[in-house]
Amino acid sequence: MKLVIVGTGYVGLVSGLCFSELGFETICVDRDATRINELKKGICPIFEPGVNELLEKHLNNTKLISFTTSIKEAMKNSDIVFITVGTPTRRINNEADLTSIMEVAEEIAENINSYCVVVTKSTVPPGTTNDVKDIIKSKVLYENFDVVSNPEFLKEGSAINDFMQPDRVVIGADSEKPKTIIKNLYKNLNLKENSFFLTTIESSEIIKYASNSFLATKIAFINQVSDLCEKVGANIQDVSRGMGLDKRIGAKFLEAGPGYGGSCFPKDVKAFINSAKKK
Ligand SMILES: NC(=O)c1ccc[n+]([C@@H]2O[C@H](COP(=O)([O-])OP(=O)(O)OC[C@H]3O[C@@H](n4cnc5c(N)ncnc54)[C@H](O)[C@@H]3O)[C@@H](O)[C@H]2O)c1
Repeated sequence: MKLVIVGTGYVGLVSGLCFSELGFETICVDRDATRINELKKGICPIFEPGVNELLEKHLNNTKLISFTTSIKEAMKNSDIVFITVGTPTRRINNEADLTSIMEVAEEIAENINSYCVVVTKSTVPPGTTNDVKDIIKSKVLYENFDVVSNPEFLKEGSAINDFMQPDRVVIGADSEKPKTIIKNLYKNLNLKENSFFLTTIESSEIIKYASNSFLATKIAFINQVSDLCEKVGANIQDVSRGMGLDKRIGAKFLEAGPGYGGSCFPKDVKAFINSAKKK
């Protein structure tokens, strides 16, 4: 089984290294030639516990991972292609900018020669994976490909661990064959059967946005409660601890502090609101 990962950023590199660790031959592609040249020399572009070790192991010892700037070269005899390019906020309207996703879909379409599963791992608004399908359909025979949504839930700082021990693996597809192929990729993680959540493409896409938006809501909510605590002389730490002891609520993401931030929450909340408004 040969895997291609297009977009060797945080998610692409971590996924590529973890799939190598699971025993798959993996080729990571990026349009950033400097990044690819450095990775070929074993120089890692991100700081993340465990990444350097996996890079050294799979680049030099097992040789299961390799790097290129060419989708065409990477896709020779490939079985599965993951799209892991960025989906930043489009400044003019706060929507997700899907330019890179669509560019990559066009290039993938030009290079499919035998049956291949094309997977969106990037965080994308509902409907995007089927737009990718339409692009590929215009150039590739129906029986030669399937599309799958398999969003990534890793967190920066514990990315390898999150990938190797996920709470759940969400797989969205509209037929059994690609669902089974992608599920089998994660077989060596030895997850319990109920860690896999198999669903439709649109549901899978929304699960990712709704999850991040819900976590951001918890943070925003406790900060509002903190404001009230300050006004009435209550102790916010006690309040959040008292709330978090309720198993239905849970203690995580319930600490008052600066508002939510990071590379994903702000952009995903904006994109989720906008995709909801458009429907
Ligand atoms: N960073 C996280 O913690 C995290 C977690 C879960 C999901 N995600 C999602 O995963 C996706 C990727 O995020 P990231 O943080 O890895 O982004 P990133 O910016 O670190 O990496 C994206 C990479 O894609 C490359 N790229 C862009 N267009 C390309 C093209 N046409 N061809 C080849 N390469 C191209 C860029 O050069 C870059 O290296 C986003 O949708 C993000 O929301 C991110």
